Amino acid sequence: MKKIILERRSVRKFTDDYVTDEQLKELLEAARFAPSWANTQSSYFIAIRNKELIKELVEKCYPKNPATNCSLGTSLLIVACYEKGKSGYYKDFDFNSVGTWGMFDLGLACQNIMLRAHEMGLGTVVVGAYDFENAKSILNLEEKYEIAGILPIGKRVEGEIPVPKRRDLKDMFRILD
Ligand SMILES: Cc1cc2nc3c(=O)[nH]c(=O)nc-3n(C[C@H](O)[C@H](O)[C@H](O)COP(=O)(O)O)c2cc1C
Repeated sequence: MKKIILERRSVRKFTDDYVTDEQLKELLEAARFAPSWANTQSSYFIAIRNKELIKELVEKCYPKNPATNCSLGTSLLIVACYEKGKSGYYKDFDFNSVGTWGMFDLGLACQNIMLRAHEMGLGTVVVGAYDFENAKSILNLEEKYEIAGILPIGKRVEGEIPVPKRRDLKDMFRILD
């Protein structure tokens, strides 16, 4: 597991290999088992295979986004959504004061997808710099969902991807004795 966590990279170059339905199912299964707020399971995924639709979505990417070109060639785009009003709500209480737990849960589910993809020899990158309102209208998405990321999925091309520099460990935590 440690190796998978350390060696997973954001992949922005894919081969032409087709991502099979079986592989897609494995990725979604990994998302299904992610933890969620009170097990509300608000994450929702739209798997796009249609080349024209992929093109239409990708063309709306911020043009300088480094993930734009790789997304155009993929056989699978996963649009990561969450259903509003579920995560962080319990009986009459709204526990969303620090942000939406739906986003948090979706991040966990996406990380499961990314780690599982890496384990399977696939790669992906979260595309977050995107006008999701635009994507919602292209996909004719029901009002109850928000989109929070697009994941192009493919077989990563051979070769090392440099590891983006991480903060020193000492800068990211403190211990209170
Ligand atoms: C929420 C989120 C949004 C991101 N959006 C983009 C994006 O729009 N385009 C892109 O090329 N990479 C995007 N990334 C990938 C990050 O740039 C990448 O995770 C970071 O540089 C660390 O590299 P690594 O994933 O290889 O460890 C995003 C990552 C996250 C978690």
